[in-house]
Amino acid sequence: MVPFSKSTQSMRSSEIRELLKLAVRPDVISFAGGMPNNDLFPIEELDEIYSHLPAKLKKIGMQYGPTAGYPPLIESLKKYLSTKGLPLENNDLIVTTGSMQAIYLLAKVFIDPGDRIITEYPCFIGATAAFNSFQPELESVPIDDDGIIISQLEKALFRPAKFLYLTPNFHNPAGIIYSTERKKQLLQLLQNKKIILIEDDPYNELYFEKEDEKLTTPLKTMGEPVPICYTGSFSKIFGPGMRLGWLLAPKKIIEKCELAKQAVDACSSTFTQVLANEFMRKDIMPKYLQKLRASYAQRCDVMLRSLKEYMPSEVKWTHPRGGFYVWLTFPERVDATDVLKESIDNGAVFVIGKAFDPESRRNNCLRLSFSYPAEDKIQEGIKIVADAIKLFL
Ligand SMILES: Cc1ncc(COP(=O)(O)O)c(C=O)c1O
Repeated sequence: MVPFSKSTQSMRSSEIRELLKLAVRPDVISFAGGMPNNDLFPIEELDEIYSHLPAKLKKIGMQYGPTAGYPPLIESLKKYLSTKGLPLENNDLIVTTGSMQAIYLLAKVFIDPGDRIITEYPCFIGATAAFNSFQPELESVPIDDDGIIISQLEKALFRPAKFLYLTPNFHNPAGIIYSTERKKQLLQLLQNKKIILIEDDPYNELYFEKEDEKLTTPLKTMGEPVPICYTGSFSKIFGPGMRLGWLLAPKKIIEKCELAKQAVDACSSTFTQVLANEFMRKDIMPKYLQKLRASYAQRCDVMLRSLKEYMPSEVKWTHPRGGFYVWLTFPERVDATDVLKESIDNGAVFVIGKAFDPESRRNNCLRLSFSYPAEDKIQEGIKIVADAIKLFL
């Protein structure tokens, strides 16, 4: 057999996927996927958009498009991002196949084997997988309820690193949002550092309370002591099946990412870009977002109340103000994999903490997603998870 490439050989076989295969029974309550709720997709709006689409646009949608994206969508996105204060001067924007691809392209154009990358602990598994494709040295810095711990980041920055990868708003998996103070401290610390910041912001719009909108201010609008590559996505605000995201970054970086994208998929789906553009252009988004925020806030509330009711006192959890996730931590003697096996047997599934540890070690924690399950199943599922934890305490 011809050997696989070195980067493929270093790919981890996913214990998590194996475990989740056990959870395909339709009656299993799933807190596992970081997925929007199926009943919340804007199906009627989509029908409306498609049925009113002129034949000319349908044909454009069926054709290959420019690698950087469908020009009218780029314009709509720029307009939208400028309302958030994001700087368009000296930056460029490309449409990507999900924000996952934006992260992957950045990894591809910057990482040589052995380069250091700093992430948060815990960290979005898709980003670590994308980075690991290029054999970097990953180091993770813990977060607390207000964001990355500055004193620890300062130490990590003593040695050169290519990227700092952060999800400041409604973190996956931790469910926290950085405080404004922590964002400022972070930008202050990055003064005069030679590093690129990847600011991954797919949950930006999903705050539960209007008063928290100001907390979602992107770092990239607060000054750029180092180049900031800002990624966003339609996945959580339209549908992940659209496979559309974007990357706003300094022009020189976008040029290289565009070249790299040519070799990956030539262009993102023109068809879904045409639809997404109409979704933005027809101003459907603001009303739809209100519906999403109210529904996710409600689901989160049910989950938090259930956790309070059923979890033993040794278990701690985060209290999200937006997004999809609650992060649970328990004493070190309890292993989340044992809890998961027991939970699956009894009809509930989640993702074990180790999956979000770039060093794949710490496992006295787990992620619960409240976005996907039916609201009336959340309480029942949390009781199952709580009973499973109690067995191992
Ligand atoms: C933090 C974070 N970044 C990026 C993504 C990728 O989203 P997509 O590729 O669907 O745009 C996700 C999806 O769950 C995420 O949670």
